[in-house]
Amino acid sequence: MFRSMMLRFVLPVALASCVVAYFGLPYIERLLAEWFRSDVELRAQLVMHSVEEPITDLVEFGTDVRLRAYLTKLAADERLLAILVCRPNGTTIFRSDRTPSTIACDPEGISDPARSRILQLPSGSVQVSRFDFDGAQPKPFRVLMLHDLSFVDRRQRTARDFVLVFVGISILLLALLIVLVAWLQLRRWVEVLLGDIRGKRFHDDAQSPRLSLPILSQVREVLAEAEEKQRLEIDFRENWTPQALQQVVHDHLDSAQVIIVSNREPYIHSFDAHRRAFWQVPASGMVTALEPVMRACSGVWVAHGAGSADHETVDRYDRIRVPPDDPSYTLRRVWLSPEQEQGYYYGFSNEGLWPLCHLAYVRPAFRASDWRAYEEVNTKFSEVVAVESGTESPVILIQDFHFALLPQLLRQRIPKATIALFWHIPWPNAETFGVCPWKRQVLTHMLSADILGFHTRYHCQNFLDTVDRFVECQIDREHMTVTLQGRICRVAPYPISIEWPPRWLARLPDVATCRTTVHERYGIGADVIIGLGVERWDFTKGIIERFQALEVLLDNDPKHRGRISLLQIAAPSRGQLPAYQALQQQTYDEVERINSKFTQGEWRPIVLIDEQQEPLRVFELYRAADFCLVNSLHDGMNLVAKEFVAARDDEDGVLILSTFAGASRELPEAVLINPFDVSETANAMEIAMRMGREERRNRMSLMRRTVKENNVYRWAGRMLMDAARIRQRQSLPSTVRRFGTFGR
Ligand code: G6P
Repeated sequence: MFRSMMLRFVLPVALASCVVAYFGLPYIERLLAEWFRSDVELRAQLVMHSVEEPITDLVEFGTDVRLRAYLTKLAADERLLAILVCRPNGTTIFRSDRTPSTIACDPEGISDPARSRILQLPSGSVQVSRFDFDGAQPKPFRVLMLHDLSFVDRRQRTARDFVLVFVGISILLLALLIVLVAWLQLRRWVEVLLGDIRGKRFHDDAQSPRLSLPILSQVREVLAEAEEKQRLEIDFRENWTPQALQQVVHDHLDSAQVIIVSNREPYIHSFDAHRRAFWQVPASGMVTALEPVMRACSGVWVAHGAGSADHETVDRYDRIRVPPDDPSYTLRRVWLSPEQEQGYYYGFSNEGLWPLCHLAYVRPAFRASDWRAYEEVNTKFSEVVAVESGTESPVILIQDFHFALLPQLLRQRIPKATIALFWHIPWPNAETFGVCPWKRQVLTHMLSADILGFHTRYHCQNFLDTVDRFVECQIDREHMTVTLQGRICRVAPYPISIEWPPRWLARLPDVATCRTTVHERYGIGADVIIGLGVERWDFTKGIIERFQALEVLLDNDPKHRGRISLLQIAAPSRGQLPAYQALQQQTYDEVERINSKFTQGEWRPIVLIDEQQEPLRVFELYRAADFCLVNSLHDGMNLVAKEFVAARDDEDGVLILSTFAGASRELPEAVLINPFDVSETANAMEIAMRMGREERRNRMSLMRRTVKENNVYRWAGRMLMDAARIRQRQSLPSTVRRFGTFGR
């Protein structure tokens, strides 16, 4: 940098100096010559004044010898080259020895009296001064005094050389000094700016108080604008991809290690009847969303190893690379005893928190033994995550209600970790949550996270109200933060989604072929309209209510009999629990009752598939269906709705969607229903059957655009960007952090 500054700075200065010297030096020389000449002239006049009288006397009255002797002595002066005394008619009275031959007492020769003149002689330049003594004199005469001017040239040369050297050295020293000062100053600015850029300290001048030059604040402003623009670009980017997500991890999180923690593992290994191990992707909205994220970010996924062949398929560190057919990240399995699983998973998680958070009117059960198991298992997971974390500040993404205690337990073990907990299910109002006997422990442990994510703003508000009611802390509702014992937790909505495009689509034929396959596979007549339901067999999903709605439809309008079948995929779930067993039994009973009421020939109103289906099969069903019915009584998001939309690249098919599912906030183009009102659901089915192709296309294309733009990479990207911002703020001095804003 210094060398280039020298070149850039000194060269132009040197060039400019040459130009000045080129034009300025002749002027200086002329000036000097002028001065020397007038000096010589003055000298000639002085000499003449002092010798005027003796010369006049000698010319008037003296002898030639005396005049000659006097003038020879005078002419001996070094500077005085020669003296001539002449009569006005040109007669020479005296001519000193050294007088050049070209100079003579020519009456016209020398110009005006008392005026000097420069003559260029072969021996050099001389100045000739003429003094006339006539008028008053009886014998007029004139004196020509010749001064040697060669010394002027010599002095001019010396002066020029001196000026050149002096100016040259001065310019060089000045340039060096300026460059040095500029370089030092620039280096300091660059250092401060780099520090600001690295630490992103350009949102608030107070954060970088050391320098407050206008140029620096301007640069900071520009950087802040650029960052804001980039943030907006990310917010409104239409095409979030795995690569974009990788870039966020690389650029904004300095390639930090990403660890996901969940109860349900993304790949379950089980033994078949011949004790051969096979793997399955579980029916879980959480897995559907997180699996593509983990593929993109690599890292480690820590989860409960619940499959019968899970033990046999891990290495000695309980790890296995997944997906099994194309490994891209590590799954670390955690083993739980049957008692732990019973208390933590079936008990506190699924009989306590699950019904507590879902308003499906199933009463939550809270048992002290379940709570103890929940604490124990959360502690166990915190130990495993600490082992798996390869750095002191990993980004840990905790999933769901199974791990409410984990943020604080992890904070104790890995203080510098950036911890986000995403709650995949709804959060109830404060009064409802208040029935949980361990509500304060749950809330304070959760608040140790840096980020608490929910699907909707409404759930965030419910959470803040709950914290407000039960925990002593500071809540900033404008910026959605909770400060507990000096630690700030950001509470924000991150509506979850699915990968786009879903990878299964590439492996499926066109919609017509899928329709034919599905109609044949399930024995549904080619002309029969298929209404599809795909869920875990859970009391929150409204499975019984949708059968009853179909019954109302067929009761109200018999012409629909034989025209529509409900194809229901019910993936068995949490089957050990009485509420789920009761639901299964009730489902079978209802199917039996309704089918026997309406069945005609080959046609059955309800086709129940009580087995989990592989994702590829599920996507085939989505493509084959005329409408998809998502009538959850309460649901955090519901990704079936989004998957159905994503599967319909023919822009056909109708989505009937519960207003109590988070997805309804993003997909208002669906036919929205209150799932508790079976008549309304029956009516929605009729609307779906009657809807024209044009309207179906319009609605579907709008929904597809929403899901495409708000895919799961965007969901994870936004959360990771917020995590990155929090990390940067945490690296600032505590005073700045305290007064900084956390609004975005
Ligand atoms: C919901 C929860 C998930 C859970 C899934 C399946 O979507 O939010 O965390 O994995 O249900 O439930 P299961 O108990 O079978 O894991």
